[in-house]
Amino acid sequence: MRSDAAIVVLTGAGISAESGIPTFRGEDGLWETEDGGAYRIEDVCTPEAFRRDPALVHHFYDGRRRALRTVSPNPAHQALARLDRDWPGDLLIVTQNVDDLHERAGATRLLHMHGALRSAWCAACDARMPWEGDLGDAPACPSCGAGGRLRPDIVWFGEMPYEMERIEAALAAADLFVSIGTSGAVYPAAGFVRMAAACGARTLELNLDPSAGSAWFDEVRSGPAGLLVPAWVEEVLGR
Ligand code: OAD
Repeated sequence: MRSDAAIVVLTGAGISAESGIPTFRGEDGLWETEDGGAYRIEDVCTPEAFRRDPALVHHFYDGRRRALRTVSPNPAHQALARLDRDWPGDLLIVTQNVDDLHERAGATRLLHMHGALRSAWCAACDARMPWEGDLGDAPACPSCGAGGRLRPDIVWFGEMPYEMERIEAALAAADLFVSIGTSGAVYPAAGFVRMAAACGARTLELNLDPSAGSAWFDEVRSGPAGLLVPAWVEEVLGR
């Protein structure tokens, strides 16, 4: 591959699985509750759910945010951070993940299309701000002072993912599109492989199991991200 090739990497929950964050649709999925029951997507991941029962939605995301303190980036995040540092061509890492393991590994050419757990968004003044603590106890917005108006800065079902124009421009210009650890179940991310391929990119999937979109890729490698991603990055940087 040419050293000025443009690369777009899409990541999903599978890249953080080996750090100890359960995936969404795996057997120990994030939809499981602490008492062995199950959260239903429509109870926690929609704007309607937040209007109906904000306490339940905050409880779900406060738990996820607290859990971030106990996990660390794994070799897959570290390899992508190395690619980010050393790849001379254009690179954009688009993550669907709301954890912060890519940036903690050192990646900078990164965007969170589904938002971020460590960010809050004020419904009163529209400000977004870094957030470490809980939101369930209805803290006042540090920006405008309104009480109980902060929500997780997460893109819920029915809401528009962030930075779609920038993502689409990068896909249109990509020479290589790589999808890592995502089931291909949620659009628009699931459609990126076809957008990139239609614009001439080579496409590669690195995933534990075949995804819903495997058939669209030029090449599919199956295995854990902690092994496949460092090997692929070595290949690319070693050229
Ligand atoms: P999923 O849980 O749907 O899929 C995770 C994928 O990772 C599956 O295909 C697994 O086979 C794969 N996987 C698991 N462990 C792996 C490992 N160690 N190495 C490599 N692959 C592994 O998660 P996403 O595709 O990320 O949206 O889900 C997409 C979106 O659905 C999420 O961003 C979230 C959810 O609704 C929002 O929160 C808006």
